[in-house]
Amino acid sequence: MGLMDDLVEKYGKELNKKLADPTFFIDELLFKPKGWIMPPYGKEWLKLAYKHKRINFTAFRSSGKTEIMLIAQAIHRAFTQKNWDGIIISNSLKQSTEVLRRVRDGILDSEILRNSLSSSKYHEQNKTTLTLKNGSRIRSLPYNDNIRMNHVDWVGMDEIGLYRDHDLMKSAITPIVTAKEGSIHCIGTPMSKIDLIHKLRDNKSYLSKIYPAYTEKMDLFKQRYSDREIRKVGGKFQILLADKSIFEEYDSLTWNREFLCVPLGNEDNLFPYELIEQSFQYDLTMNNTLNTNSRYYMGIDFALSAESSADFTVIIILERTKEGQLILCDMIRWKGMSYNAQKVRISEVIRYYKPVKAILDESSFGASFLDDVRREVRGVSIEGMRFTAGAYTNVKQDIITMLRSTFESNWRVYSNNEKTPLENEKKNFVIPRERTDGKTMKLTTEILEELLSFGIKYDEVKHTVKFEGIGSHDDIVVALGLANFAANGSGNLSPMVSRGSSGYRKMFVKKTR
Ligand SMILES: Nc1ncnc2c1ncn2[C@@H]1O[C@H](COP(=O)(O)OP(=O)(O)O)[C@@H](O)[C@H]1O
Ligand SMILES: [Mg+2]
Repeated sequence: MGLMDDLVEKYGKELNKKLADPTFFIDELLFKPKGWIMPPYGKEWLKLAYKHKRINFTAFRSSGKTEIMLIAQAIHRAFTQKNWDGIIISNSLKQSTEVLRRVRDGILDSEILRNSLSSSKYHEQNKTTLTLKNGSRIRSLPYNDNIRMNHVDWVGMDEIGLYRDHDLMKSAITPIVTAKEGSIHCIGTPMSKIDLIHKLRDNKSYLSKIYPAYTEKMDLFKQRYSDREIRKVGGKFQILLADKSIFEEYDSLTWNREFLCVPLGNEDNLFPYELIEQSFQYDLTMNNTLNTNSRYYMGIDFALSAESSADFTVIIILERTKEGQLILCDMIRWKGMSYNAQKVRISEVIRYYKPVKAILDESSFGASFLDDVRREVRGVSIEGMRFTAGAYTNVKQDIITMLRSTFESNWRVYSNNEKTPLENEKKNFVIPRERTDGKTMKLTTEILEELLSFGIKYDEVKHTVKFEGIGSHDDIVVALGLANFAANGSGNLSPMVSRGSSGYRKMFVKKTR
C-alpha cells in the first residue's frame, strides 16, 4: 500500500484539510518518509510563516533554516495553491542552483509529489525554475538587481547576513511583492552587528526572532540533534556524535556567531580585561632562568625602521612546562635598531632560549633575513609566516582568533554570560603578575595595555572585518599570537568552515602593514 493510501485510510475526508496545514504536509509528505523529525522550533517557524508577511529569523547553523523555512515552505505553498509564484534568493548563483536542486529532490523523493512536476512545453523547467502541473512555480535566484522585474507571492531569502548590498532590499526586493501583497521571509546566521539581519531588526514591519543553539532556558540544539553533544575543550567548542567522536570543532568566535548568534561588534574588545585577568598568576615572576624540563616557543614581530617613531620589534617567549602549562615567560622589545644589529640580537635570544619553534612575521623583511638568522643559530626550527600574501590572507585573523581561544581555555565554562575560572594549577595559560616585582609588572602592563586596545574594525563599505590594534601599536599582540601559534598550532590554521558563497571567507581580510 502506498503512502497516499495510508493517509487516506487514516484521515479519510479530513485529509485535504489536514494537508493545508504546512506542518502536517511537510511532516507527512517530506520529512517522515526520509526518517526526519521536525524539531518543535521548526513547527513554530512554520506557524509564524503563515501568519506574518515580513519575517527576519536568525538561527544557529544547520538548524534546518533553509530546509524548513525555504525549501519545505515553498513546496507546501506551491502544492496547495494554483499558479502560486515564489522565489528563493541566495547570495550567489551557485547557492541558488543548489537550493533549487534540493527543492526538486524534495519533490522527486516524495512518492506523492513526484508526479506533479509539469511536462508541458509552456512550463519552464531548468536550473533556476521549477513548474508544477497546477501552474505554480518555484524559482531560485541570486541576490542582485535582476530580481526587480518579477511580481511574486512570496520571497524567501537565505543567509541574509552575507548580503552586501543592503539597499537592494528596498529598491528591488520589497517592490516585487507589492502587487500581490506577498511575503518576504528572511533567514540567516549573523556575520556582524551591522549586517542586514541587524538592520532589519530595526524595521518594525518585520517579525524578528533569534534562535540560538542554546540559552539558559532552552536547548534547541538538542531538539534538532538529540544524539549529539556539545563539549568545550580548551578554548574550542566541539560537536560530538553519538559514539563520542568529534564531528566538528569551532573556535569560540565562530561558535558565538554561528551557534549562539552573537557576532562581535565594532565596540567589542577582542581581549577584555576580565578575559586576560584569568591568566594572571600573582605569585609568579618573569625571570629568564631556563627550566631544563620545559620547552620554549617564540613569536617575533619584526619592524625594520631606524625612525624613532617606528614600530617595535617584539619577541615573546612562551614556556611549556612538563605539566603542560603554557607560561608567558619573557618579552624583549626594542626599536630604532639597524637591520644587522637586530639580526644579531634576535640570534642571541634564540640561542639563549633554544626554542622548539620560533615564528617570525615574514611580511616586513626579506626571506634572506630568515636565512641569515638560520645560519647564525642552527638546530632551531625558525619559520617565517606571511600575513599579507595571497593564500595567507587570513593568517593574521586566524592567529589572533587562536590567541583568544588560548585565553578562553582558562575557563571551565564559557558562554556569553557565564564564566567559571579554573584554579591556578589547572590553568592552561599563565601570565606572571607578581606585584612586587618591577620587571614583571612593567612587562605585563605593557602586554595588558596592547591587548586591551586590540579590537574589531568593521568596514561598512567593503563589509570586511579586521582585527587590529586601536591604539598606536599591536606588535605585542602579534608576537604573542605567533608564539602561541608556535606552541599550540599544529598546522591546523583555519578552524572556519566555509559556507556557501566564496564571499564568506573574504569577510576576513588582511591588514596591510
Ligand atoms: N529535521 C531534519 N532532519 C534531518 N535532516 C535535516 C532536517 N532539517 C534539515 N536537515 C538537513 O540538515 C542539513 C542542514 O540543514 P539546513 O536547512 O541546510 O540548515 P541551515 O540552513 O539552518 O544551516 C541539510 O543537509 C538538511 O537537508
Ligand atoms: Mg542554510
